[in-house]
Amino acid sequence: MPKIKITGGRKLSGTIPISGAKNSVVALIPAAILCDETATISNVPDITDVDDLENILTHLNARITRTTGKVEINSSDIINKEITAELSKKLRASYYFMGALLGKFKKVDMYFPGGCSIGERPINLHLKGFAALGAKITEEDNHFIIEADKLKGTNIYLDFPSVGATINIILAAVKASGRTIIDNAAAEPEIVNIATFLNNMGAKIKGAGTSTITITGVKYLHSCFHEVIPDRIEAGTYLILASLIGENLKIDNIIPNHLEALIAKLTESGVDMEVGIDNIVVKGSHDRKPISIKTLPHPGFPTDLQQIMATYMTQCRGSSIIEETIYENRFQNLYELEKMGATFKIRKDNKKATIKGKIKLKGAKVSSTDLRGGASLVVAALIADGTTTISNISYILRGYDRIVEKLTNVGAKIEII
Ligand code: EPZ
Repeated sequence: MPKIKITGGRKLSGTIPISGAKNSVVALIPAAILCDETATISNVPDITDVDDLENILTHLNARITRTTGKVEINSSDIINKEITAELSKKLRASYYFMGALLGKFKKVDMYFPGGCSIGERPINLHLKGFAALGAKITEEDNHFIIEADKLKGTNIYLDFPSVGATINIILAAVKASGRTIIDNAAAEPEIVNIATFLNNMGAKIKGAGTSTITITGVKYLHSCFHEVIPDRIEAGTYLILASLIGENLKIDNIIPNHLEALIAKLTESGVDMEVGIDNIVVKGSHDRKPISIKTLPHPGFPTDLQQIMATYMTQCRGSSIIEETIYENRFQNLYELEKMGATFKIRKDNKKATIKGKIKLKGAKVSSTDLRGGASLVVAALIADGTTTISNISYILRGYDRIVEKLTNVGAKIEII
């Protein structure tokens, strides 16, 4: 199995260009089947989640043309058949075919989605939304058949501002008759990107980015061109790395406003950075003060960056705190960091961790536990003494476009072996 090998301790300088957002493109591609003509999406990252979605579209006989950074999708010949367990389980975002196929054909036949094992991750809120729109749900052994004679707009209150449920309900409601209002909706930037995409096709969606979203159903969605927003989690990963070992390191092609919580925390810890219109430059090393973070839905601190922040916290002068409020099991990477010399305590309920600093990390053999856990090990290996090998890298390649090339270009010693 391929591994990532890193020799750490080298200062990094230059520019890291950020790619399109994984958590946006994985919703845009399934949503494209709602288009009654051809949808073109640009700034598409080269990650394996996109490959897996392409395989599902091909399985459904949709026409997908992929070139570097771009996909064109035409679903006029699509066949609405079962999406096999094998295809469904490849990634979490396969669940967006539930909303898209239900919205287009009023029927979908697929299995429970895959995704990183960082918690239970049920889809009850998605199903509750589909049922409220008039769909009947049959489930047996994680095999779902969801169908409706008619989808009718209604008011839906989400018990939790779930990203996936908000997007899936939008996909099912965009062609339903009448108006749907989602209350306590998620407000992540990816929600705004998907609403803009559908509105570019002629949909009527208002309030994306706030906790109340209104969708007025339409009959027809025409062709459109749409650009994926920059990946705020990829950008945050490299900004944390820059705050540890960067010397005039620029993180480029970003929307700084999407990183507000992280910028505030790193600044509080003492990191000196220059925030530009679409980039951030981190000058040099700092006296890092310990900090505490609590993960929350956007605009709170993103749970997808907490594991990488744990690596940062091993380099702070004193103990830092992480409170994880979104997932029940997102501290597994700490046990891998421990092999590199990190020390920490996790509270019994697995919701809070105390990370000790300042620690000299050393190279070791470690394994990715999930996508962001893997990224936390790459950052640790780049600051550690000696050489580290990281296994289970398929997790990392699911969400980081050209990671070896981007890091090599700023002076890192990293390779896939
Ligand atoms: C999206 O997952 C992202 N994935 C996740 O990123 C991210 O961590 C998460 O949003 C929160 O920001 C994609 O976009 C593909 P949720 P999603 O529904 O949609 C519970 C990464 O590293 N919940 O907002 O699955 C759920 O169990 C990944 O890129 C229910 O209980 O997240 C979780 O505890 C990891 N019932 C919480 O809500 C439901 O029906 C947040 O889930 C749905 C969710």
